[in-house]
Amino acid sequence: MTTYDLIISGGTVATASDTYTSDIGVRDGRIVALGHNLGEATRTIDATGMLVLPGGIDAHCHIEQESSTKIMTADDFYSGSASAAFGGNTTFIPFAAQHRGQSLRDVVKIAHSRAGPKSVIDYAFHLIISDPTEQVLGQELPALIKDGYCSFKVYMTYEMLKIDDRQMLDVLSVARRHGAITMVHAENNDIINWLSERLLNGGYVAPKFHAVSHNAIAESEAARRAIDLARLADAKLLIVHVSAPQAANAILNARNQGLEIYGETCPQYLFLTADDLDKNGMEGAKFCCSPPPRDKAGQDAIWLGLSNGTFQVFSSDHAPYRYDETGKFNAGPNPSFKKIANGVPGIETRMPLLFSEGVGRGRLTLNQFVALTSTNAAKIYGLHPRKGTIAIGSDADLAIWDPNWKRTISQEMLHDNMDYTPYEGMQITGWPRTVISRGRVIVDNETLLAEKGSGQFLERQAGAEGAPLDASALLSPARNFAADLL
Ligand code: URP
Ligand code: ZN
Ligand code: ZN
Repeated sequence: MTTYDLIISGGTVATASDTYTSDIGVRDGRIVALGHNLGEATRTIDATGMLVLPGGIDAHCHIEQESSTKIMTADDFYSGSASAAFGGNTTFIPFAAQHRGQSLRDVVKIAHSRAGPKSVIDYAFHLIISDPTEQVLGQELPALIKDGYCSFKVYMTYEMLKIDDRQMLDVLSVARRHGAITMVHAENNDIINWLSERLLNGGYVAPKFHAVSHNAIAESEAARRAIDLARLADAKLLIVHVSAPQAANAILNARNQGLEIYGETCPQYLFLTADDLDKNGMEGAKFCCSPPPRDKAGQDAIWLGLSNGTFQVFSSDHAPYRYDETGKFNAGPNPSFKKIANGVPGIETRMPLLFSEGVGRGRLTLNQFVALTSTNAAKIYGLHPRKGTIAIGSDADLAIWDPNWKRTISQEMLHDNMDYTPYEGMQITGWPRTVISRGRVIVDNETLLAEKGSGQFLERQAGAEGAPLDASALLSPARNFAADLL
């Protein structure tokens, strides 16, 4: 009698906490057995010499999303999810982005219509809130949180997206009340504009001045302010795509004070520097993202933050704008740094880069790698234990990882719809050989086996609800703000 649909045998299993040898038995898309000599299965995959890891969760990527300046990303949900799968991911969480004046319900409907027919991996959506009207805060957002859209991003910069401090407090209070988490793009818009104006007036227009205008102080000031606003509202907060060491320090300090503050960083802050923006001609445009990559010392600080618990989440922030008029040069062939589309691609290279240069070079343990690329995102965003781990009852989302497979990154080998990778020519050791989503082999032998649209939308569970922050709550001795303000 066949007991399992699939057995993965002989591999070394690693989770966020443990590493051990075990076979894995899968039935109906779930992990149902861990152990040895499990018995019969319809299919067996021999993983001898391989690591068997929870499938990656890319918790920050821009897929089939229109920017606030109306530029469409080069990847739709098919190419974006396929590329993610080749990079070892079985889940991603792109954004359903509100443009001002739009209802959040419409935004969510559009995101579903784009993802449903195309995604080959499972997905959820973070909301982007750019217009926190009374209707949005009082009706739409609470209802959507109940429906499982329990994470949303707000911006402190970008003219068409940014919200002010008062609006941020409003969003944080709704998140606290309904058990959601706020994510923040922390950069001080006035500092960036003040610096940009002076640079542009002086004729300093090349891509490299993007990094000058997005000074680290703009990032660290905004990060500290966001943390203080979250402290005031007694709400949890995750600061996305951190590049400045000073912002990383602010997160670590807040965490050391016991605040529920989380940090995310991305490959571009480990492997690129501001010097990359100074490549020949307009080539530097390929590396313009916000916040920008910093310097070598900055890279070291971000590595340290990954190993010392400052950062819980390592995401790609895949923002695929091609090196042509559809993307980087949407505003014309020779734009000033201010008009270059912001963002870099990296959904397929995120995990291999961190594995090779993190685990391979002894900067991170294998378990830290799993936590940073999968488990922590699942926990923070309400997907655990269905996703993000290898345990009885969890979805059989697995990356069978060859720790010795050496490959040189080139755009041709990637599966996104981009025309460049910022990591061209890097030699990387350790790639996924086989990727399994809910027990189905979706990538094997460098081939995509998943059907378009076979990814599932993931309903999430919001956390515990908090009391409303009305006057009596604010005046309660338990909410002694003065004592909080260290
Ligand atoms: O430069 C970046 N990061 N572009 C993508 C949009 C965002 O703010 O994450
Ligand atoms: Zn951002
Ligand atoms: Zn982003």
